[in-house]
Amino acid sequence: MSEALILFQPMGRRVAVDKKYSLLTMAEQNGVGIEATCGGKGLCGSCKVQVQGKVSPLEKEEADYLGPDAKKGYRLACQTRALEGVKVWVPENSRLHKQVILTTGYEHEMNFDPEICVWELSVPLKDTEKTDQLHERILEKLNKAAQIGSDFQWHLPSALLQGVDEKLHKSDGRVSVVTTMSGRCLEIIPGWDTDCLGLAVDLGTTTIVVYLVDLKTGRSLSVKAGMNPQVSQGEDVISRIALCRDRPDRLKKLAESVHQFITELAQQACMEAGVPFRHIFETVLVGNTAMHHIFLQLDPSGLAQAPYTPVTSDSVEISALPITPGSAPEAQIHVLPVKAGFVGADTVAAVLALDADQVTEPTLILDLGTNGEIVLATPERMLCCSCAAGPAFEGGHIKWGLRGAPGAVDQVSVSADSLVPELRVIGGGSALGICGSGLVSLVSELVKAGVVTPSGGFDPAWRGKHLREGANGWEYLLATKENTGTGQDLVLTHQDLSHLQLAKAAIHAGISLLLSEMGIPSVEKVLLAGAFGNYLDPGAACGINMFPGVVVENITSVGNAAGAGALSALISRSQRKRAQTIARRMDYLELATHPKFNETFVMSMAFSERGDD
Ligand code: FES
Repeated sequence: MSEALILFQPMGRRVAVDKKYSLLTMAEQNGVGIEATCGGKGLCGSCKVQVQGKVSPLEKEEADYLGPDAKKGYRLACQTRALEGVKVWVPENSRLHKQVILTTGYEHEMNFDPEICVWELSVPLKDTEKTDQLHERILEKLNKAAQIGSDFQWHLPSALLQGVDEKLHKSDGRVSVVTTMSGRCLEIIPGWDTDCLGLAVDLGTTTIVVYLVDLKTGRSLSVKAGMNPQVSQGEDVISRIALCRDRPDRLKKLAESVHQFITELAQQACMEAGVPFRHIFETVLVGNTAMHHIFLQLDPSGLAQAPYTPVTSDSVEISALPITPGSAPEAQIHVLPVKAGFVGADTVAAVLALDADQVTEPTLILDLGTNGEIVLATPERMLCCSCAAGPAFEGGHIKWGLRGAPGAVDQVSVSADSLVPELRVIGGGSALGICGSGLVSLVSELVKAGVVTPSGGFDPAWRGKHLREGANGWEYLLATKENTGTGQDLVLTHQDLSHLQLAKAAIHAGISLLLSEMGIPSVEKVLLAGAFGNYLDPGAACGINMFPGVVVENITSVGNAAGAGALSALISRSQRKRAQTIARRMDYLELATHPKFNETFVMSMAFSERGDD
């Protein structure tokens, strides 16, 4: 029997496979849900996946079935075997279980003063007696509507005037002129009561969320979300940065994949809301610095090496048309500023949404994931850092790790006497694996029971039905193969324990150094932002000693704060300005070169505050 390692994305499941079995069989045996309507006979195409790496040859029948998709690396999972390490991207249509993506964010009151506005004008039709030009008539009406003097400089591109005479006649002189507040005309639309739409985009490493908003009222019309298609090219930002560095042609491809996907999500949102995609006049986008650079096709390779400097940290304004074809020709995309190589516009947006620049007591904002961003805010100062936590919080590098999706265990309680676990599975049913919040919950319970020692090992004194020696060392049994959806035992290995320990130590060390730099021992409030923070049980996080200087009662989950920040910058110019000020005012602490980082990190490894066994 020979083995190959397969990485199924976007689930993040790594499995050692037997070359004899198809990708579909390997997926089924390992809790990766792939549609298989014909039961694996190669007849339905529902198991179509995109493959990178050496796999069994494409037979004629399969090639005929796939058509041009075969050239793009698509294969039928039921007809394909991995011959060595391969990456398998399971497209949305082929996924059995949809990922759980956090879209809701912290709601707060804000001004409604968007950058884009619509002027409903009554423009006189052509008068043979008068010689004034069409654009003069429009500008005169604009001046009147905006109640500004005739010396105000409107910018009315001549392309917008094409066919306007006809539009005016059709609508009896009534037109809607869409402009920016700085006077740039974006579109002239016949009639009044036209749709004027905006898009807020939270571009995450793993997921993308778009919010469609009515810019005339500030009302949210639709929200759409999906997995970032770049996951198939690299699981985390470091691998995508490395890809761009080693293969410069990939930067454009990565950027285009995400442009296309954002366009698709926006089109779906418009369709759902029953509004025209062409009437999206402005998009505000936030993302971490690597995502920001790749989106803008800026070389991200400098982010991966000291001094980790972004190409630019300012906000950026670009034309939308090349990125989201089919949107209004003069539409624009505004990208919020970033702070540092690993503290991006998403953190700036979260600080904005959570009013961290206006706190009255020491407050921590935590956005935990492969990279954890932490902001410590006091009335006097904001200080931020980023911690390389690794993929454990997203189920990566964990034997039975899964991202948050139906079938993943997300909460565990363990009987202190018998060590029998009780599992909560997303969506109910049998467990397929465990996600990050489930992992923290489980380890916290095992620490409480004494099965896991404060220094991070399994205590062999608990050897029994649930704590046993497996093929690769000690492991804790969560569910036997008869009770899982994979037909295999669901276990937590001691390697899994180490991965979680390193991840939590990175966060603990980051918070410790921020507190020490600011000279304060503890905080009064902790706001957990982002998907992982939303599902994380604060008690469990404290149970593994992840947050120093924090009392569990003071921890609150705040949902997708980055998305909420993008929304507020979309509908409010004053909020957008504030985002600039936040990016400038917030100080950044570089941990990679911090003289006390190593020592603090080692101290942060313990699963309990005392740390002794
Ligand atoms: S399961 Fe139907 S083609 Fe593969």
